[in-house]
Amino acid sequence: MTDAKKVDKYQELQGAIKRHHGERGALMPVLQEAQSIFGYVPQDVQIQIAEGLNVPLTEVYGVATFYSQFALEPRGEHVIGVCLGTACYVKGSQKVMDRIAQELNVEVGHTTPDGKFTLNATRCLGACGLAPVIMIDEEVYGRLKPDEVPGILAKYQA
Ligand code: FES
Repeated sequence: MTDAKKVDKYQELQGAIKRHHGERGALMPVLQEAQSIFGYVPQDVQIQIAEGLNVPLTEVYGVATFYSQFALEPRGEHVIGVCLGTACYVKGSQKVMDRIAQELNVEVGHTTPDGKFTLNATRCLGACGLAPVIMIDEEVYGRLKPDEVPGILAKYQA
Protein backbone atom coordinates (compact mmCIF):
# COMPACT_ATOMS: atom_id res chain seq x y z
CA MET A 1 0.00 0.00 0.00
CA THR A 2 1.42 3.41 -0.89
CA ASP A 3 1.67 6.00 1.87
CA ALA A 4 -0.88 8.23 0.12
CA LYS A 5 -3.43 5.40 0.03
CA LYS A 6 -2.75 4.63 3.67
CA VAL A 7 -3.36 8.26 4.63
CA ASP A 8 -6.64 8.25 2.66
CA LYS A 9 -7.81 5.20 4.55
CA TYR A 10 -7.03 6.75 7.91
CA GLN A 11 -8.82 9.94 6.85
CA GLU A 12 -11.83 7.86 5.87
CA LEU A 13 -11.71 6.18 9.28
CA GLN A 14 -11.58 9.55 11.04
CA GLY A 15 -14.58 10.63 8.96
CA ALA A 16 -16.53 7.56 10.09
CA ILE A 17 -15.60 8.21 13.72
CA LYS A 18 -16.73 11.84 13.44
CA ARG A 19 -20.03 10.90 11.82
CA HIS A 20 -20.94 8.41 14.54
CA HIS A 21 -19.37 10.21 17.50
CA GLY A 22 -21.86 10.70 20.32
CA GLU A 23 -24.35 8.20 18.85
CA ARG A 24 -25.59 5.35 21.01
CA GLY A 25 -24.01 2.10 19.89
CA ALA A 26 -21.55 3.93 17.61
CA LEU A 27 -18.93 1.22 18.00
CA MET A 28 -20.59 -1.34 15.74
CA PRO A 29 -21.09 0.89 12.67
CA VAL A 30 -17.60 2.38 13.04
CA LEU A 31 -16.06 -1.10 13.25
CA GLN A 32 -18.06 -2.12 10.19
CA GLU A 33 -16.77 0.88 8.27
CA ALA A 34 -13.22 0.19 9.44
CA GLN A 35 -13.56 -3.43 8.27
CA SER A 36 -14.70 -2.29 4.83
CA ILE A 37 -12.03 0.44 4.55
CA PHE A 38 -9.06 -1.71 5.59
CA GLY A 39 -10.38 -5.22 4.91
CA TYR A 40 -9.65 -6.02 8.57
CA VAL A 41 -9.33 -4.19 11.88
CA PRO A 42 -5.67 -3.92 12.85
CA GLN A 43 -4.58 -2.84 16.30
CA ASP A 44 -3.69 0.76 15.41
CA VAL A 45 -7.19 1.15 13.94
CA GLN A 46 -8.73 -0.25 17.14
CA ILE A 47 -6.74 2.31 19.11
CA GLN A 48 -7.93 5.19 16.90
CA ILE A 49 -11.53 4.03 17.26
CA ALA A 50 -11.21 3.74 21.04
CA GLU A 51 -9.72 7.23 21.30
CA GLY A 52 -12.10 8.75 18.76
CA LEU A 53 -15.25 7.35 20.33
CA ASN A 54 -13.96 7.63 23.85
CA VAL A 55 -14.54 3.97 24.70
CA PRO A 56 -12.05 1.61 26.37
CA LEU A 57 -9.75 -0.24 23.96
CA THR A 58 -10.75 -3.49 25.69
CA GLU A 59 -14.34 -2.87 24.59
CA VAL A 60 -13.31 -2.26 20.97
CA TYR A 61 -11.20 -5.41 21.04
CA GLY A 62 -13.99 -7.38 22.74
CA VAL A 63 -16.56 -6.48 20.08
CA ALA A 64 -14.08 -6.98 17.21
CA THR A 65 -13.24 -10.49 18.42
CA PHE A 66 -16.81 -11.50 19.33
CA TYR A 67 -18.37 -10.97 15.89
CA SER A 68 -17.04 -13.14 13.08
CA GLN A 69 -17.70 -10.37 10.53
CA PHE A 70 -14.59 -8.62 11.85
CA ALA A 71 -11.09 -9.86 11.08
CA LEU A 72 -8.09 -8.86 13.18
CA GLU A 73 -5.58 -9.71 10.49
CA PRO A 74 -5.74 -9.51 6.69
CA ARG A 75 -8.14 -12.03 5.21
CA GLY A 76 -6.74 -14.68 2.93
CA GLU A 77 -7.60 -14.93 -0.74
CA HIS A 78 -10.06 -17.70 0.21
CA VAL A 79 -12.06 -17.74 3.43
CA ILE A 80 -12.98 -21.14 4.82
CA GLY A 81 -15.81 -21.31 7.35
CA VAL A 82 -16.34 -24.59 9.15
CA CYS A 83 -19.75 -24.85 10.78
CA LEU A 84 -19.55 -25.78 14.43
CA GLY A 85 -23.31 -25.50 14.94
CA THR A 86 -24.93 -28.39 16.81
CA ALA A 87 -26.01 -30.50 13.81
CA CYS A 88 -22.60 -30.22 12.16
CA TYR A 89 -20.73 -30.73 15.40
CA VAL A 90 -22.63 -33.93 16.10
CA LYS A 91 -21.76 -35.16 12.60
CA GLY A 92 -18.05 -34.56 13.12
CA SER A 93 -17.31 -31.04 11.90
CA GLN A 94 -14.55 -30.68 14.50
CA LYS A 95 -12.67 -33.51 12.76
CA VAL A 96 -13.11 -31.73 9.43
CA MET A 97 -11.84 -28.53 11.04
CA ASP A 98 -8.81 -30.35 12.50
CA ARG A 99 -8.00 -31.85 9.14
CA ILE A 100 -8.15 -28.47 7.38
CA ALA A 101 -6.00 -26.88 10.09
CA GLN A 102 -3.50 -29.72 9.73
CA GLU A 103 -3.44 -29.63 5.92
CA LEU A 104 -2.94 -25.87 5.82
CA ASN A 105 -0.86 -25.68 8.97
CA VAL A 106 -2.96 -22.80 10.26
CA GLU A 107 -4.87 -22.18 13.47
CA VAL A 108 -8.55 -21.37 13.57
CA GLY A 109 -9.14 -17.64 13.20
CA HIS A 110 -5.88 -17.15 11.31
CA THR A 111 -4.53 -16.80 7.79
CA THR A 112 -1.85 -18.94 6.17
CA PRO A 113 1.53 -17.16 5.79
CA ASP A 114 1.15 -17.18 1.98
CA GLY A 115 -2.12 -15.25 2.36
CA LYS A 116 -4.07 -17.93 0.50
CA PHE A 117 -6.54 -19.14 3.17
CA THR A 118 -8.22 -17.87 6.31
CA LEU A 119 -9.77 -20.55 8.52
CA ASN A 120 -12.78 -19.62 10.62
CA ALA A 121 -15.33 -21.42 12.75
CA THR A 122 -18.92 -20.38 12.04
CA ARG A 123 -22.31 -20.82 13.62
CA CYS A 124 -25.13 -22.69 11.85
CA LEU A 125 -25.04 -21.92 8.12
CA GLY A 126 -28.67 -22.95 7.68
CA ALA A 127 -27.85 -26.15 5.79
CA CYS A 128 -28.08 -28.63 8.68
CA GLY A 129 -29.46 -31.35 6.36
CA LEU A 130 -26.03 -31.40 4.73
CA ALA A 131 -24.07 -31.61 8.00
CA PRO A 132 -21.17 -31.41 8.41
CA VAL A 133 -20.92 -28.31 6.26
CA ILE A 134 -18.09 -25.99 5.32
CA MET A 135 -18.08 -22.93 3.12
CA ILE A 136 -15.17 -21.78 1.02
CA ASP A 137 -15.88 -18.25 -0.19
CA GLU A 138 -19.48 -18.60 -1.51
CA GLU A 139 -19.31 -22.33 -2.17
CA VAL A 140 -20.95 -24.84 0.23
CA TYR A 141 -19.57 -28.35 0.75
CA GLY A 142 -21.79 -30.76 2.67
CA ARG A 143 -21.70 -34.28 4.15
CA LEU A 144 -17.99 -33.84 4.29
CA LYS A 145 -15.52 -36.47 5.47
CA PRO A 146 -12.06 -35.41 6.69
CA ASP A 147 -10.45 -37.46 3.92
CA GLU A 148 -12.17 -35.34 1.29
CA VAL A 149 -10.51 -32.18 2.59
CA PRO A 150 -7.18 -32.38 0.67
CA GLY A 151 -8.96 -32.81 -2.67
CA ILE A 152 -11.19 -29.80 -2.04
CA LEU A 153 -8.32 -27.59 -0.91
CA ALA A 154 -6.28 -28.58 -3.95
CA LYS A 155 -8.88 -26.88 -6.19
CA TYR A 156 -8.11 -23.56 -4.49
CA GLN A 157 -4.38 -24.09 -4.26
CA ALA A 158 -3.98 -24.45 -8.01
S1 FES B 1 -25.44 -26.67 12.26
FE1 FES B 1 -24.15 -26.58 10.54
S2 FES B 1 -25.47 -25.91 8.99
FE2 FES B 1 -26.71 -25.93 10.73
